[in-house]
Amino acid sequence: MKAPAIALLAAALAAGGSRPAKMAAEPLLVAVQAPARAPDVPYEPTPPDVVREMLRLADVRPTDVVYDLGCGDGRIVIAAAKSYGARGVCVDIDPRRIIESRRNAMSAGVAPRITFRTEDLFQTDIADATVVMLFLWPEVNLRLRPKLLRELKPGTRIVSHWHDMGDWAPDKMVIVSPGGRARPVYLWTVPR
Ligand SMILES: C[S@@+](CC[C@H](N)C(=O)[O-])C[C@H]1O[C@@H](n2cnc3c(N)ncnc32)[C@H](O)[C@@H]1O
Repeated sequence: MKAPAIALLAAALAAGGSRPAKMAAEPLLVAVQAPARAPDVPYEPTPPDVVREMLRLADVRPTDVVYDLGCGDGRIVIAAAKSYGARGVCVDIDPRRIIESRRNAMSAGVAPRITFRTEDLFQTDIADATVVMLFLWPEVNLRLRPKLLRELKPGTRIVSHWHDMGDWAPDKMVIVSPGGRARPVYLWTVPR
């Protein structure tokens, strides 16, 4: 049987704390469209220790615009906004992930600093990014590389959890081992 195009999430936003008190007891039904096409990479969150290292490696500042291409639950851009005062752009092809990200950003008190886009990372406009975060797959990084080099300003930092960029050598690589499992984190800078 074909998967339904529409999924109903009950009370998906109720935990966000943004509803007026008089509405709190009412169930909230949100119609969520399935992704426009199958995601290129399944959802898997980056562990908190690795998120911290990604932000440190990128040397995130309050003036930065931090993109996460395939943002999942939004944890990386939320941490960039909360811990460093940066602005963020959360892009995911799966509408459920964007709902979750928005709810998490509201809970963290940083939603006004973040833009949420239910878009394909290969199509989305990344021209104003100063930092781009990735946790994708090796072949997806390689397919994305021409867009990154074409559209990002020189000096933009790109940080990838786990996967490299083929023959584009990183400026830095560090290993983070949460739970004893070694995870590389790579940093590149867009050249002139
Ligand atoms: C491995 S998860 C990483 C989540 C988050 N960046 C993190 O590190 O915690 C990959 C995410 O990319 C999203 N994704 C996969 N293909 C995509 C595409 N073509 N455009 C936008 N998002 C995509 C998935 O829905 C998923 O949420």
